[in-house]
Amino acid sequence: MHYFEYKKGELYCEDVALKDLAENVGTPTYIYSQKTIERHFQAYQSGFQNTDHLICYSVKANSNLSILRLLGEMGAGFDIVSQGELYRVLQAGCDPKKVVFSGVGKTQTEMAYALDHNILSFNVESEQELKVLNAIAKEKNKKAPVSLRVNPDIDPKTHPYISTGLKKNKFGIPMEEAKSIFKNLAQYPNIQFMGMDCHIGSQMLSLDPILETVRELKKLILDLKTHGIEIRHLNLGGGLGISYTTETPPSPQEYLKEVLKELEDLHLKILIEPGRSIMGNAGILLTQVLYTKTNTSKNFVIVDAAMNDLIRPTLYQAHQDIWPVAGEKRSMTTVDIVGPICESGDFLGQDRDLPELKSKDLLAIMGAGAYGFTMSSNYNSRPRVAEVLVLGETYKVIRKRETLEDLIRGESL
Ligand code: LLP
Repeated sequence: MHYFEYKKGELYCEDVALKDLAENVGTPTYIYSQKTIERHFQAYQSGFQNTDHLICYSVKANSNLSILRLLGEMGAGFDIVSQGELYRVLQAGCDPKKVVFSGVGKTQTEMAYALDHNILSFNVESEQELKVLNAIAKEKNKKAPVSLRVNPDIDPKTHPYISTGLKKNKFGIPMEEAKSIFKNLAQYPNIQFMGMDCHIGSQMLSLDPILETVRELKKLILDLKTHGIEIRHLNLGGGLGISYTTETPPSPQEYLKEVLKELEDLHLKILIEPGRSIMGNAGILLTQVLYTKTNTSKNFVIVDAAMNDLIRPTLYQAHQDIWPVAGEKRSMTTVDIVGPICESGDFLGQDRDLPELKSKDLLAIMGAGAYGFTMSSNYNSRPRVAEVLVLGETYKVIRKRETLEDLIRGESL
């Protein structure tokens, strides 16, 4: 997190003081560092060395048009899960031929839209989906490019809500079933079979489950080869974890080194779908203290951001570090950082040791660049917050703060 650091006693994003951003744009606001995004993307690029590959950034992590354009200009493809995400990729001026479409519940409308835009591949998650896609492609007199998402039944050792590769999860096709589909592809004349994919979970901090998955996939690929079925691309999904506080995840280079070692003799095109590891630590949520209050057992710091702006702490019991924007020394207290929403689950941090805070102080919720804004809502009729992209000494508002009119758009009496 090089680009969020204290200089002259103040927290900066690159060369812009967060205090100045709060004055000029207001709070709460998501703030992203372009140099960090670039560095994270390049870490993956360099890790691939000479291997044929495509990094499909996972749009769900942060789907702001400016972020998509920035990554697209660096050569990224995109992993999407809805028509809306494809629409965003197109609006950002990025190439649909580098898009892979995941998800267990693609509708016919979504499939038709993606076929019309000639995406790279549908990551198909069930036999029923394959049949529907085949029929839609037939109507359009096209061949739909497909990769089958397999479920290897491997525990990614992460939060249960973001585990996706166990047989009890709704994702992917069990290995044996996938094998039989692969062997019966002639049943689907309007499917152009491209490869295989897999995504076992998110915020993974160990390489072991990933490498175990890669070995299982390799076995399947070799087995299919003996039946004359050639897999050309292998998509390993996303899921590499980040440090929210003291975690020590493998770097993208370490991850790729180990993974590519397992696959070197197969000569495949390798795709990956990272989201969090590119955007998570490239962004913060800037918020201002409204009030402080103490009841018999707790000290509360009430800020202007809430669970509707950043739901991760309450939804996943996620710990994200909270840093005071003013770096001056003050006596320490233990506090809960809470928002204005009418629920006791509305917290951004609990039992945090922070310098004594007072009204108007600014705080940065760290590690908020992924699954922050994209999971935000209008709950309690709160307008969604602004987003800012910083580069060096400059910054740009890449999404305006919503207005009261935005809150009721589309409603009628
Ligand atoms: N590919 C597929 C098929 C996925 O389902 C996901 C994430 C990714 C790629 C990107 O994974 P990443 O590299 O970002 O870990 N809202 C949760 C995370 C949900 C992840 C869902 N799938 C959170 O805030 O922790």
